[in-house]
Amino acid sequence: MVTTAKNTTAKNNDTPLIEMRAMHVSFGPQQVLRNITLKIPSGQTLAIIGESGCGKTVLLKTIIALVSPTKGQALFDGQNLAELNEQQLTQQRIRFGFLFQGGALFDSMTVLQNVAFPLRQHRRMSAQETRDAVLERLAEVGLPDDVLTKKPAELSGGMRKRVALARALVIDPEVMLYDEPTTGLDPIMSDVINQLILRTQRRHPVTSIVVTHDMRTTAEVADRVMMLYPIGEVAPDENQIIFDGTPQQLKNSSDPRVEQFVLGRAGDRLGAAVERTAHKSRQSEERSE
Ligand SMILES: Nc1ncnc2c1ncn2[C@@H]1O[C@H](COP(=O)(O)OP(=O)(O)O)[C@@H](O)[C@H]1O
Ligand SMILES: [Mg+2]
Repeated sequence: MVTTAKNTTAKNNDTPLIEMRAMHVSFGPQQVLRNITLKIPSGQTLAIIGESGCGKTVLLKTIIALVSPTKGQALFDGQNLAELNEQQLTQQRIRFGFLFQGGALFDSMTVLQNVAFPLRQHRRMSAQETRDAVLERLAEVGLPDDVLTKKPAELSGGMRKRVALARALVIDPEVMLYDEPTTGLDPIMSDVINQLILRTQRRHPVTSIVVTHDMRTTAEVADRVMMLYPIGEVAPDENQIIFDGTPQQLKNSSDPRVEQFVLGRAGDRLGAAVERTAHKSRQSEERSE
């Protein structure tokens, strides 16, 4: 047997950094994820796509145990998250950076205080070192020094996203979780964020999971794509992950559900969702008649 002691985090190449084993998630009577099995090796950039409400954010949250599986397992670095106590969980969460929907900056804090927050929690640094580290991260995301003293409300949406990204990156996470990083941004700012995600990957060895609606983000940053389908719209024995492959394979997929998503503009998807809702309400009207 060959053993290499070099890498202490990912045990060896066969141990995925992130793994779901036959994982189910329900909220009360509402089942959201059913029998999800997946492996994400260290260093991969995975995009998770799928229509609104299909469970992408829930899936992302199981990775850091913000949501717990109702059945099956979520593992990080070989550890079953359900078996860790709060202190152990905190130790694992330090290894992540997240950019959640809405950015979630602290409104009452300046940009400096926001980006410095993880450093204050997890590192012992002087005020000057902290400031320098924050400035370095802000420069990385293309923000000038004079934003340091601003409050989030004084910044544009794109700048807030960049501050949130700087904050997520400030403690050099091993895993970056992005939840719809470009949603709500104009095409130019979306492109800036895509480029920043790419640059982050090139600069630091990081495993990334990007939940997105944006086919450009998928094509530009991902080396693997999964499409998740709403549980109510797959057959009871069908895999909710209806696609798992490269961005190129995604484009060439002949599955009409994948095609519709890839080709569909937001308007078309909205149209399809409206049509489905109308269909469901027609069905329930018919039932109640
Ligand atoms: N904490 C929660 N409690 C109850 N229901 C939830 C919770 N989080 C998500 N859900 C439900 O799970 C489903 C999937 O949500 P989500 O993962 O946010 O979808 P999306 O694919 O748009 O990210 C939705 O129906 C949502 O209402
Ligand atoms: Mg979501």
